[in-house]
This record gives sequence, structure tokens and C-alpha cells, in this order.
Amino acid sequence: MKALILSGGKGTRLRPITHTSAKQLVPIANKPILFYALEAMAEAKIQEVGIVVGDTKQEIRGAVGDGAQWGLDVTYIEQEAPLGLAHAVKIAGPFLGNDPFVMYLGDNLVKDGIRSLVEEFERLGANSQILLARVRDPQRFGVAELQDGRVISLEEKPTHPKSDLALVGVYMFDHTIFGAVNAIQPSHRGELEITDAIQYLIDHGYRVHPHVISGWWKDTGKLEDMLEANRIMLEAITPRVDGDVDGASHVIGKVVIEEGASVTASTIRGPVVIGKRCRIINSYIGPFTSIYHDTLVCNSEIEHSIILDQCRITDIGGRLEDSLIGKNVEVFRSGEKPKAYRLMLGDSSQVGLV
Ligand code: G1P
Repeated sequence: MKALILSGGKGTRLRPITHTSAKQLVPIANKPILFYALEAMAEAKIQEVGIVVGDTKQEIRGAVGDGAQWGLDVTYIEQEAPLGLAHAVKIAGPFLGNDPFVMYLGDNLVKDGIRSLVEEFERLGANSQILLARVRDPQRFGVAELQDGRVISLEEKPTHPKSDLALVGVYMFDHTIFGAVNAIQPSHRGELEITDAIQYLIDHGYRVHPHVISGWWKDTGKLEDMLEANRIMLEAITPRVDGDVDGASHVIGKVVIEEGASVTASTIRGPVVIGKRCRIINSYIGPFTSIYHDTLVCNSEIEHSIILDQCRITDIGGRLEDSLIGKNVEVFRSGEKPKAYRLMLGDSSQVGLV
């Protein structure tokens, strides 16, 4: 069994973060999303992992390396343009050979891992196994129609969904998928859809087994999804204080303070993760907040947010909430006259003023 992790794509719904960074590397509870997928592979005892990369290949390679950190053997496969999930399977042909494989979308998070699902697929000997989850907004996903426990149709982002069963971004295939990806045509969005390839398998009498998952799953394509994923993953952390907390500070609930970080005259109310070498001074960090490495928070309040590395958040007065702040961002109160908002924002930024 091999794995194919898809880590290309443009991440348009997460701009401006994705103008400069790969969406798969946004940290959730201070761990890049993609690392959860790599951990899931290691846990499922899959060692040979192909990562399909696009424009952000340098960054992904820089973060993952050869995979030895997880006991994995990682091969990079370059996709010249995001031409679809089925296109990714096509170009991964030489890596996959005739082996069965798991295809895992690098921006998906499956909280309970995939080990038992991989075992189920191997036991059943089906040509494909798809994972389905009940969602409130099936229009955003590939949607499956089941009859007597069998998949009868799949449709990509339908306007009128036939069910509330969304395709989770984790698929299992044997070599018969190659016949399918080579037979289908690009969809109206110009992509070779894996959904169409699976429909091809069904139409040609191959066995596609549906497994409706009950655990938590998220496609972290949008800000709200990132914040929800952060919430869920923070709830599962094991508290640990490796940094310094002074006597004037209060640390309450599940909190991780990483090595080299310092908390001075502040209140941290978990679940919260504070990254390496961060400095939190005279501030409040509230529930469901992740602060990545080397960030300074001074005289400020933050709650329910993800802050990336090397930011400076100082004297902001109000409270920052429901926010995703990219790397090296400064948010501060300026004493300059005239009193005005002075902003320097990247393309597609969003600012909510009070
Ligand atoms: C892709 C698939 C879709 C699936 C989703 C899960 O959508 O095309 O069928 O439900 O992943 O994350 P995309 O993220 O490319 O819009």
C-alpha cells in the first residue's frame, strides 16, 4: 500500500495567506495541516508516500524533507498546473505502479486517522473505498447517492445535491483507477475530477465501497474551517509548560507553552498553544488560540484565533477574535496624529473594524 498526498492547489479561499504560503502548511494547534496527514500515514503503516506539489513545492519540500522524521519515504511529484485530482493520479502513475494506494488531500483533517479504514479496504478487496460524511452544505463537495448501501451516483459540487453525503478528501484505489482517469474528460471547471473517475468505476462494474465516517472531518479550505479545525485539535492537546511563566501570570486550563517562550504579567486561558520563543507581555490569550513561533503579544487581548510566526501584536486596545494572521504581521496602536487607521494590507486581505 502506498500513499499519494495532494499538496498543490492555489488556496484561493485563503488569500492573502496563500499568496505567499502553501495552505497545507498553515499551522493548526501549532502543527502544519500537512503534518497530520503524514502522521496518519505513519500510523496506518504506509511508508512510501508521494506528495504531489505545485507552485509551493519549495516550501513543502523545506517543511517535509525526505519524511524520515515520520519514518516515511517521501517522493515529490510535480504537477505543472492544478488540473484536477484525477490528473494528479495520472501523473503519479510511475510512482504508484500497480500498488493499491490511499489518496489524501493535504488540506483535509480526519481526526481519528485512517488506519482502520485502510485495513477495511485491504480486507474487502474492493477496487475503491470512498469515505463519506454528512454535511449541512453538500453543494460545496462531491456528493454521493447510495441505495441499499451501494454507491449509485457521484456528482461534483451539485446545485441540487441528491443527498447530504459529502466525499471526504481521502480515497482508496487499486490499479483500476488508471483506466478511469485516462478515460474521463475535463469538467466545466477545466479539471479532471476524481469524482468522475470514481463514477466511471461504478459504471464499468468495478466495486466501490462507501464508508460513512462518524468522526470529525474537515476540509480546511476557508477561514471558518481553519478556526474550527484549530478548536478541535486544541481540545486534544496535552498541557505542558516548557517556557517561562512569571509569578504575576495566570495559566488556566489546557495550555501548551513551548520551549523558549515567556509569559509575563498575562492571563492565558486554554485551550491555547504558545509557540517557541514567543513573548506574551501584559496580555490576555483566550480559549482556542494558537500562536506560532517567535511572535510578540504585548498589552493586547486575543481569543479564538490563529497567529503565525514572527508577528508583533502590541497595544491594540480592543480584542482580536476569529482571526487568522499571517507571518511577520504587525498590528499596533499608533499614537500618530491625525488619529486614523493606517493599513498596509496584501491583496484579498480582510479587515473588520469596530
Ligand atoms: C475536492 C473534491 C470533492 C471533495 C473535497 C473534499 O474538492 O473535488 O469531491 O468533496 O475535495 O475536501 P476541492 O477541494 O477540490 O474543491
